Amino acid sequence: MESVEVLTTERLALRKMNKGDTANLLEIFADPVAMQYYPSTKDEHETNAWIDWTLENYAKFGAGLWIVEDKQTGEFLGQCGLVLQKVDGSIEMEIGYLFKRSVWGNGYATEAALACKEYGFTELQLSKLISLIDVHNVPSINVAERVGMKREKSVVKWDKEIAVYAVYR
Ligand SMILES: CC(C)(COP(=O)(O)OP(=O)(O)OC[C@H]1O[C@@H](n2cnc3c(N)ncnc32)[C@H](O)[C@@H]1OP(=O)(O)O)[C@@H](O)C(=O)NCCC(=O)NCCS
Repeated sequence: MESVEVLTTERLALRKMNKGDTANLLEIFADPVAMQYYPSTKDEHETNAWIDWTLENYAKFGAGLWIVEDKQTGEFLGQCGLVLQKVDGSIEMEIGYLFKRSVWGNGYATEAALACKEYGFTELQLSKLISLIDVHNVPSINVAERVGMKREKSVVKWDKEIAVYAVYR
């Protein structure tokens, strides 16, 4: 499958997701620990639907979740990118990040999220970026804070309390 690069950082390459990424994504989606703040794990069929949804986002919005790889080895590490979310009736662009558990604790999510913030502010000319985070998801809150986000409010979304973190250009 053709690899379409979007961004690179010191250690990472971010490329477009494609239909060949099912097995990669299942390393995250089939892991109940990685998915503990999501409604459930995802099977192969649901993972393929996720890829289709992401490809639609690229076409409609010029952004979506991208695949994050080790720049040197090409190893699949996770996904990080920009996704539209509805918050209190308005539409906001979210920085989303999900990495496979075996590579947590290396700073990859922060490095990728910082590059996505830069992309959102410079390439897409957005003035605000958010992250919607389960109030108990401390590793995710830590990433948001390292990216320069501050907690603005809590909302009820996906039937639970979600903290809205935000950063402005
Ligand atoms: C949220 C998630 C991406 C955070 O991953 P993470 O690896 O903890 O986050 P980072 O990439 O920022 O790494 C930070 C850790 O790497 C350590 N680290 C090691 N080497 C580092 C380096 N070179 N640079 C920066 N940090 C480094 C940091 O000290 C920090 O460790 P700590 O957690 O013990 O404080 C991960 O938990 C995940 O994928 N969860 C499942 C999906 C999910 O819930 N996503 C969020 C939904 S809102």
